[in-house]
Amino acid sequence: MMHSVLDQLPQIMGHRGACGHAPENTLSSIEMAATLGSKFIEIDVCVTKDNIAVIHHDTDVDRCTNGHGPVLLKTLEEIKLLDASIQFSPHFTGEKIPTLKEAILTIQKLGLGLNLELKPCKGWQIPTTERVAAELQEYLPENVPLLVSSFNIEALKKLGSLMPDVPLGYLTEAIPPDWERRLVEAGCASLHCEKDFVTKENVTAVKAAGYKFLVYTVNDPEMANRFLDWGVDSVITDFPDRLFAGLQHIK
Ligand code: G3P
Ligand code: MG
Repeated sequence: MMHSVLDQLPQIMGHRGACGHAPENTLSSIEMAATLGSKFIEIDVCVTKDNIAVIHHDTDVDRCTNGHGPVLLKTLEEIKLLDASIQFSPHFTGEKIPTLKEAILTIQKLGLGLNLELKPCKGWQIPTTERVAAELQEYLPENVPLLVSSFNIEALKKLGSLMPDVPLGYLTEAIPPDWERRLVEAGCASLHCEKDFVTKENVTAVKAAGYKFLVYTVNDPEMANRFLDWGVDSVITDFPDRLFAGLQHIK
Protein backbone atom coordinates (compact mmCIF):
# COMPACT_ATOMS: atom_id res chain seq x y z
CA MET A 1 0.00 0.00 0.00
CA MET A 2 1.33 3.45 -0.89
CA HIS A 3 0.96 6.02 1.89
CA SER A 4 0.51 9.66 1.03
CA VAL A 5 3.24 10.72 3.48
CA LEU A 6 5.69 8.80 1.34
CA ASP A 7 4.66 10.83 -1.68
CA GLN A 8 5.55 14.01 0.21
CA LEU A 9 9.08 13.06 1.19
CA PRO A 10 11.37 16.04 0.56
CA GLN A 11 14.82 15.73 -0.99
CA ILE A 12 16.44 17.17 2.15
CA MET A 13 15.59 16.12 5.69
CA GLY A 14 17.23 17.61 8.80
CA HIS A 15 19.10 15.08 10.99
CA ARG A 16 18.37 15.22 14.74
CA GLY A 17 16.80 18.57 13.81
CA ALA A 18 19.70 20.39 12.20
CA CYS A 19 22.42 19.10 14.46
CA GLY A 20 25.25 20.72 12.55
CA HIS A 21 24.00 24.07 13.84
CA ALA A 22 22.31 23.42 17.20
CA PRO A 23 22.42 20.80 19.98
CA GLU A 24 21.04 17.59 18.50
CA ASN A 25 17.47 16.52 19.19
CA THR A 26 16.54 19.75 21.00
CA LEU A 27 13.73 22.19 20.22
CA SER A 28 16.36 24.68 19.04
CA SER A 29 17.66 22.09 16.61
CA ILE A 30 14.16 21.48 15.24
CA GLU A 31 13.61 25.24 14.91
CA MET A 32 16.99 25.60 13.20
CA ALA A 33 16.06 22.94 10.65
CA ALA A 34 12.91 24.85 9.76
CA THR A 35 14.81 28.15 9.58
CA LEU A 36 17.26 26.54 7.14
CA GLY A 37 14.44 25.39 4.88
CA SER A 38 13.81 21.77 5.94
CA LYS A 39 10.25 20.61 5.50
CA PHE A 40 10.82 17.35 7.37
CA ILE A 41 13.04 16.40 10.30
CA GLU A 42 14.45 13.21 11.73
CA ILE A 43 14.66 12.94 15.54
CA ASP A 44 15.26 10.01 17.91
CA VAL A 45 12.91 8.87 20.66
CA CYS A 46 13.26 6.73 23.80
CA VAL A 47 11.52 6.61 27.20
CA THR A 48 12.28 7.67 30.77
CA LYS A 49 11.98 5.65 33.99
CA ASP A 50 8.48 7.06 34.50
CA ASN A 51 7.57 6.09 30.92
CA ILE A 52 7.56 9.44 29.17
CA ALA A 53 8.79 9.60 25.58
CA VAL A 54 11.76 11.95 25.20
CA ILE A 55 13.85 13.02 22.22
CA HIS A 56 17.34 11.62 22.66
CA HIS A 57 19.78 9.59 20.57
CA ASP A 58 21.94 7.66 23.02
CA THR A 59 21.01 5.10 25.65
CA ASP A 60 22.66 7.37 28.22
CA VAL A 61 22.83 11.12 28.66
CA ASP A 62 26.62 11.39 28.96
CA ARG A 63 27.59 12.56 25.45
CA CYS A 64 24.92 15.22 25.01
CA THR A 65 24.31 16.60 28.50
CA ASN A 66 26.06 17.48 31.74
CA GLY A 67 24.60 14.34 33.36
CA HIS A 68 25.48 10.65 33.51
CA GLY A 69 23.68 7.35 33.14
CA PRO A 70 20.87 5.76 31.14
CA VAL A 71 17.76 7.73 30.19
CA LEU A 72 15.70 4.69 31.20
CA LEU A 73 16.89 4.99 34.82
CA LYS A 74 15.94 8.69 35.15
CA THR A 75 12.56 10.26 35.74
CA LEU A 76 11.44 13.08 33.48
CA GLU A 77 12.01 15.46 36.39
CA GLU A 78 15.65 14.31 36.55
CA ILE A 79 16.02 14.53 32.76
CA LYS A 80 14.73 18.11 32.82
CA LEU A 81 17.48 19.15 35.26
CA LEU A 82 20.12 18.38 32.61
CA ASP A 83 21.70 20.88 30.24
CA ALA A 84 21.51 19.49 26.70
CA SER A 85 23.50 22.34 25.16
CA ILE A 86 27.03 21.14 25.90
CA GLN A 87 27.89 20.51 22.22
CA PHE A 88 27.11 24.16 21.42
CA SER A 89 27.67 26.09 24.68
CA PRO A 90 27.36 28.86 25.58
CA HIS A 91 24.93 30.03 22.90
CA PHE A 92 22.33 27.36 23.70
CA THR A 93 22.94 27.17 27.45
CA GLY A 94 19.88 25.95 29.31
CA GLU A 95 18.55 23.89 26.40
CA LYS A 96 16.72 20.80 27.68
CA ILE A 97 16.02 17.32 26.37
CA PRO A 98 12.48 17.75 25.00
CA THR A 99 9.61 15.37 25.51
CA LEU A 100 8.00 13.90 22.42
CA LYS A 101 4.94 16.00 23.24
CA GLU A 102 7.00 19.21 23.26
CA ALA A 103 8.71 18.24 20.01
CA ILE A 104 5.34 17.56 18.36
CA LEU A 105 4.03 20.99 19.41
CA THR A 106 7.09 22.65 17.87
CA ILE A 107 6.88 20.54 14.71
CA GLN A 108 3.20 21.38 14.30
CA LYS A 109 3.82 25.10 14.89
CA LEU A 110 6.56 25.08 12.23
CA GLY A 111 4.54 23.03 9.73
CA LEU A 112 7.16 20.27 9.51
CA GLY A 113 6.89 16.57 8.74
CA LEU A 114 8.31 14.07 11.22
CA ASN A 115 10.61 11.10 10.68
CA LEU A 116 10.58 9.66 14.19
CA GLU A 117 13.31 7.11 14.85
CA LEU A 118 12.49 4.58 17.58
CA LYS A 119 15.67 4.18 19.65
CA PRO A 120 14.76 1.67 22.33
CA CYS A 121 17.46 0.24 24.60
CA LYS A 122 18.00 -3.46 24.02
CA GLY A 123 15.41 -5.27 26.12
CA TRP A 124 13.04 -2.29 26.15
CA GLN A 125 11.86 -2.43 22.53
CA ILE A 126 8.24 -3.28 23.26
CA PRO A 127 7.59 -0.92 26.20
CA THR A 128 9.27 1.93 24.31
CA THR A 129 7.21 1.33 21.19
CA GLU A 130 3.95 0.98 23.12
CA ARG A 131 4.52 4.26 24.91
CA VAL A 132 5.58 6.15 21.79
CA ALA A 133 2.54 4.85 19.90
CA ALA A 134 0.23 5.92 22.74
CA GLU A 135 1.74 9.43 22.79
CA LEU A 136 1.57 9.75 19.00
CA GLN A 137 -2.09 8.76 19.13
CA GLU A 138 -2.74 11.32 21.86
CA TYR A 139 -0.62 14.28 20.72
CA LEU A 140 0.12 14.10 17.00
CA PRO A 141 -2.35 16.15 14.92
CA GLU A 142 -3.61 14.39 11.82
CA ASN A 143 -2.15 17.04 9.52
CA VAL A 144 1.46 16.39 10.62
CA PRO A 145 3.10 13.97 8.14
CA LEU A 146 4.63 11.05 10.06
CA LEU A 147 7.12 8.36 9.12
CA VAL A 148 8.42 6.05 11.88
CA SER A 149 11.82 4.44 11.37
CA SER A 150 14.05 2.08 13.35
CA PHE A 151 17.02 -0.28 13.18
CA ASN A 152 14.96 -2.62 15.34
CA ILE A 153 12.55 -4.97 13.57
CA GLU A 154 10.74 -5.91 16.79
CA ALA A 155 9.96 -2.23 17.44
CA LEU A 156 8.81 -1.69 13.84
CA LYS A 157 6.50 -4.71 13.95
CA LYS A 158 5.00 -3.55 17.23
CA LEU A 159 4.45 -0.02 15.96
CA GLY A 160 2.87 -1.43 12.81
CA SER A 161 0.45 -3.51 14.86
CA LEU A 162 -0.54 -0.51 17.01
CA MET A 163 -0.67 2.13 14.24
CA PRO A 164 -1.24 0.25 10.97
CA ASP A 165 -1.69 3.42 8.90
CA VAL A 166 1.71 4.88 9.74
CA PRO A 167 4.41 4.22 7.12
CA LEU A 168 7.51 2.52 8.49
CA GLY A 169 11.16 2.77 7.49
CA TYR A 170 13.78 0.07 8.02
CA LEU A 171 17.13 1.52 9.05
CA THR A 172 20.37 -0.23 8.27
CA GLU A 173 24.02 0.56 7.67
CA ALA A 174 24.93 -1.93 4.93
CA ILE A 175 22.01 -3.29 2.92
CA PRO A 176 21.60 -6.94 3.91
CA PRO A 177 21.23 -9.55 1.14
CA ASP A 178 17.73 -10.36 2.42
CA TRP A 179 16.67 -6.71 2.61
CA GLU A 180 13.35 -7.32 0.86
CA ARG A 181 12.36 -10.15 3.21
CA ARG A 182 13.17 -7.86 6.15
CA LEU A 183 11.11 -4.99 4.75
CA VAL A 184 8.16 -7.33 4.24
CA GLU A 185 8.57 -8.87 7.72
CA ALA A 186 8.65 -5.46 9.41
CA GLY A 187 5.89 -4.03 7.20
CA CYS A 188 8.17 -1.27 5.93
CA ALA A 189 7.63 1.01 2.95
CA SER A 190 11.12 2.52 2.92
CA LEU A 191 14.75 1.55 3.38
CA HIS A 192 17.10 4.01 5.11
CA CYS A 193 20.75 3.25 4.43
CA GLU A 194 24.08 4.68 5.63
CA LYS A 195 25.74 6.80 2.92
CA ASP A 196 28.95 4.76 2.58
CA PHE A 197 26.99 1.64 1.61
CA VAL A 198 24.81 3.16 -1.09
CA THR A 199 25.42 2.07 -4.67
CA LYS A 200 23.53 2.90 -7.83
CA GLU A 201 22.70 -0.81 -8.19
CA ASN A 202 21.08 -1.13 -4.78
CA VAL A 203 19.12 2.11 -5.18
CA THR A 204 17.81 0.82 -8.51
CA ALA A 205 16.88 -2.57 -7.03
CA VAL A 206 15.09 -1.17 -3.98
CA LYS A 207 13.21 1.41 -6.04
CA ALA A 208 12.25 -1.17 -8.67
CA ALA A 209 10.70 -3.27 -5.90
CA GLY A 210 8.47 -0.30 -5.01
CA TYR A 211 10.14 1.00 -1.85
CA LYS A 212 11.32 4.49 -0.96
CA PHE A 213 15.05 4.94 -0.42
CA LEU A 214 16.48 7.36 2.15
CA VAL A 215 20.16 7.92 2.95
CA TYR A 216 21.81 9.20 6.14
CA THR A 217 23.93 11.20 6.99
CA VAL A 218 24.84 13.22 3.90
CA ASN A 219 26.60 16.52 4.53
CA ASP A 220 28.32 16.93 1.16
CA PRO A 221 26.19 18.52 -1.62
CA GLU A 222 28.02 16.62 -4.38
CA MET A 223 27.21 13.33 -2.72
CA ALA A 224 23.59 14.42 -2.22
CA ASN A 225 23.26 15.30 -5.91
CA ARG A 226 24.70 11.93 -6.90
CA PHE A 227 22.28 10.01 -4.69
CA LEU A 228 19.28 12.06 -5.84
CA ASP A 229 20.28 11.47 -9.47
CA TRP A 230 20.31 7.74 -8.77
CA GLY A 231 16.71 7.96 -7.55
CA VAL A 232 17.13 8.33 -3.78
CA ASP A 233 14.00 9.98 -2.37
CA SER A 234 15.50 11.87 0.59
CA VAL A 235 18.90 12.56 2.07
CA ILE A 236 19.13 13.16 5.81
CA THR A 237 21.65 15.84 6.75
CA ASP A 238 23.14 17.71 9.70
CA PHE A 239 23.48 20.79 7.44
CA PRO A 240 20.30 21.44 5.41
CA ASP A 241 21.68 24.86 4.39
CA ARG A 242 24.77 23.33 2.70
CA LEU A 243 22.70 20.85 0.75
CA PHE A 244 20.07 23.35 -0.35
CA ALA A 245 22.86 25.67 -1.53
CA GLY A 246 24.45 22.90 -3.61
CA LEU A 247 21.40 21.07 -4.90
CA GLN A 248 21.28 20.81 -8.71
CA HIS A 249 17.64 19.91 -9.18
CA ILE A 250 15.34 21.25 -6.52
CA LYS A 251 11.98 19.48 -6.64
O1 G3P B 1 17.48 7.99 10.83
C1 G3P B 1 18.74 8.16 10.27
C2 G3P B 1 19.83 8.22 11.29
O2 G3P B 1 19.45 9.07 12.34
C3 G3P B 1 20.18 6.86 11.85
O3 G3P B 1 21.32 6.88 12.63
O4 G3P B 1 22.55 6.95 14.74
O5 G3P B 1 21.98 9.08 13.59
O6 G3P B 1 20.20 7.76 14.71
P1 G3P B 1 21.51 7.70 13.97
MG1 MG C 1 18.44 8.88 14.20
